[in-house]
Amino acid sequence: MSMQSQAFERKMNVRAIQKMKGEEPITMITAYDALFAGIFDGEVEMILVGDSLTMSFFAESDTLSATMEQMLYHTKAVCKGVRRSLVVFDMPFGSYTHPQQALENAVRVYRETCAEAVKIEGGREKAEIVRLLSENGIAVFAHIGLMPQSVRAEGGYRVQGRTTEEAIRLLEDAKILEEAGAFALLLEGMDSEVAAKITEAVSIPTVGIGAGNGTDGQVLVWSDMFGFFEEFKPKFVKRYLNGAELIREGLRQYREEVKSRAFPDEKHSY
Ligand code: KIV
Repeated sequence: MSMQSQAFERKMNVRAIQKMKGEEPITMITAYDALFAGIFDGEVEMILVGDSLTMSFFAESDTLSATMEQMLYHTKAVCKGVRRSLVVFDMPFGSYTHPQQALENAVRVYRETCAEAVKIEGGREKAEIVRLLSENGIAVFAHIGLMPQSVRAEGGYRVQGRTTEEAIRLLEDAKILEEAGAFALLLEGMDSEVAAKITEAVSIPTVGIGAGNGTDGQVLVWSDMFGFFEEFKPKFVKRYLNGAELIREGLRQYREEVKSRAFPDEKHSY
């Protein structure tokens, strides 16, 4: 018999998430609209409005085209569906290139949406921004390891932390970002042992994606984990549902019934 954990009723906030470290694994998935956010609400502690929406829903080959306006639009929609989970806003590429710009954009996020934290990709080079935002009352989720917004500059996606130098740098970055005020760390595409070491070394929660089982929580992109974005099948994604296939089955049945005039029947007519 599989063990299913219960949905929760209480409202999550950044302190509640921090208290989960060492107590209970944190669950997080992405959402981009009110309909699905409403289904996910209260089932996972955090919902990320990720810039992955450009790839999953706009068929782009990377996340770089996302804009502040798009992310704000999708976050507003997610907020309409959410009552309990904590919403995190993914700051898009180019929206936090220097501290003042980052602060202005993050202030917009707090003013215009229900998001309670903003996610920023980058290690020590972003510490000044993390500090400025934190000092101004904005919770920052710092994202290190494989950083999708650097894909063009890096020449592709590559698992991080496989050499001693890289592992040491990642560990140092994590500590610097914690010291700068980050409320949590997102560890993506990283050697599992390095992610576990970072998790032990910091007192803030770590949430991993493709970073093994030693982090304080996990995040997945919903359309990947439920089999809607079929082309994308990296090793770290586990499929919990064959969503696209389920929809096709439903569609075939609908098509057959319309063609045979079985639908609408009396029950579905006025
Ligand atoms: O945009 C996104 O969905 C993300 C995840 C990969 C964590 O940043």
